[in-house]
Amino acid sequence: MRVAVCPGSFDPVTLGHMDIVRRAARQFDRVYLCAMVNDRKGAGLLTAEERRELLALAAAEMENVIADSWGGLLVDYAKKVGAGAVVKGIRDEKDLGWELEMAEYNRRADLELELETILLPAKETYRGISSTLVRECIASGKEWENYVPAAVVGALQQLQKRKGW
Ligand code: PNS
Repeated sequence: MRVAVCPGSFDPVTLGHMDIVRRAARQFDRVYLCAMVNDRKGAGLLTAEERRELLALAAAEMENVIADSWGGLLVDYAKKVGAGAVVKGIRDEKDLGWELEMAEYNRRADLELELETILLPAKETYRGISSTLVRECIASGKEWENYVPAAVVGALQQLQKRKGW
């Protein structure tokens, strides 16, 4: 079985992320959509569990996509779920530079695993969308609903009310 991981911070998940996941799900038998939680990156907007819940809502219609979260290294997660590839989207040169670095890190971190990184070019419509943009819109009281999957808008609005953003 061909298994891939789509990792990310997903704080929160955006339309751009889900376009990459949809494309990955066409190429692989199973895709683990995993919120990687790095304590050193600071608290962020959402907790690990909230990110995972939003991923589950966003991927509900995709039967070969499993939402998850993980607090350790990506290579260890890939080994745990039996994934042979990591799929990530790239929007620009900055993303590309970063992803090349990550790909090399992940390759070297476990040579036996031979974890492959597959980079998909983001569609033009999604190039300007990022989790940072959504967080900035939320912080400044601007509309953010058009940047996230329709399936997560309600849950994110509830979190917004509950947490008083
Ligand atoms: O959404 P992002 O910011 O592009 O996601 C980056 C992410 C979470 C995929 C990357 O930081 C990651 O894989 N983190 C997990 C920890 C890890 O394996 N780090 C390796 C380099 S230190």
